[in-house]
Amino acid sequence: DWTMTSFVDQEIARIRSLVGPKGQVIGAVSGGVDSTVAAKLMKEAIGDRFHAVLVDNGVLRKGEAAQVHATLTKGLGIQLHVIDAADRFLDLLKGVADPEKKRKIIGNTFIDCFEERALAIAKEAENTLNAGPIEFFLQGTLYPDVIESISFKGPSQTIKTHHNVGGLPERMSLKLIEPLRELFKDEVRVLGTSLGIPEDLVWRHPFPGPGIAIRIIGEVTREKVRIAQEADEIFIAEIRAAGLYRQISQAFAAVMEGRAVGVVGDQRLHGYIIALRAVQTTDFMTARAFRFDMEWLERVVERIGNEVEGVARVVYEVTSKPPATIEFE
Ligand code: XMP
Repeated sequence: DWTMTSFVDQEIARIRSLVGPKGQVIGAVSGGVDSTVAAKLMKEAIGDRFHAVLVDNGVLRKGEAAQVHATLTKGLGIQLHVIDAADRFLDLLKGVADPEKKRKIIGNTFIDCFEERALAIAKEAENTLNAGPIEFFLQGTLYPDVIESISFKGPSQTIKTHHNVGGLPERMSLKLIEPLRELFKDEVRVLGTSLGIPEDLVWRHPFPGPGIAIRIIGEVTREKVRIAQEADEIFIAEIRAAGLYRQISQAFAAVMEGRAVGVVGDQRLHGYIIALRAVQTTDFMTARAFRFDMEWLERVVERIGNEVEGVARVVYEVTSKPPATIEFE
């Protein structure tokens, strides 16, 4: 595609002149398409003077940190530092039930972890690469994010501030570099494909910065995280196997508050309640529930009940947005 090739060439030239021959750039990646495409562009432009950081906050999808690590390093040649901070996040989340408090804890802890590691990376890179200090922070902001942050500030939209980095660039006195800020999502996907990013990643459903923590109503515990992750993995695998993944905009499993009674073998189980949610939307401002075939849904529910320990019930949630939101919190 000629237009994409020229976009890539121009953008790489622009990044190089902005960063200079010795400058370094750091950025957070999530495993989503935007941050991965942005990271790949940086890698193409300045090689190992770009440092990608993934913070494993303990509330990612199951196995996601390892998967992102494999794709980015082995697959795409990007230098990636994974911060394993799951215990730190989960300890801080202990006893916290309020959704906005959870978001704050996760946002602030993310910033702390990132900053600590960034300083170490900078120091090391200045020595080994004989490079200058880190001056830039990479952000995978898209054109609709730019527009939205100017024109719309709804309650959850202000909170989901782009890519959950809060005031990080300012706090670290880094300048922003936003190579995707003129692109729409579909253009980012085309660009990602042309840069060799795997299809699975290019079409990945969005995942919120606070992760599974806002898919567990009330207190986040390690057990609830495990249950949400395992149920989610089954649900998504079945959606993929049925060929429905791309028709659905976002799908996930959540853990409800409280318990329900079920029967496992000949034992009564006072177990957790899982809610499955799958929505179709074009803009994430309004959405409706996906209409699964009932027999298909029963099979998925049965699998979750059989395979995920501690689950007593599984429900399928069909509320539209509005009045509901896509996430539960
Ligand atoms: P809601 O739940 O507001 O979600 O209908 C709309 C879209 O935004 C995502 N979302 C978030 N993303 N941090 C994020 O990065 C957040 O705190 C957050 N809350 C919701 C949600 O996954 C959906 O795609």
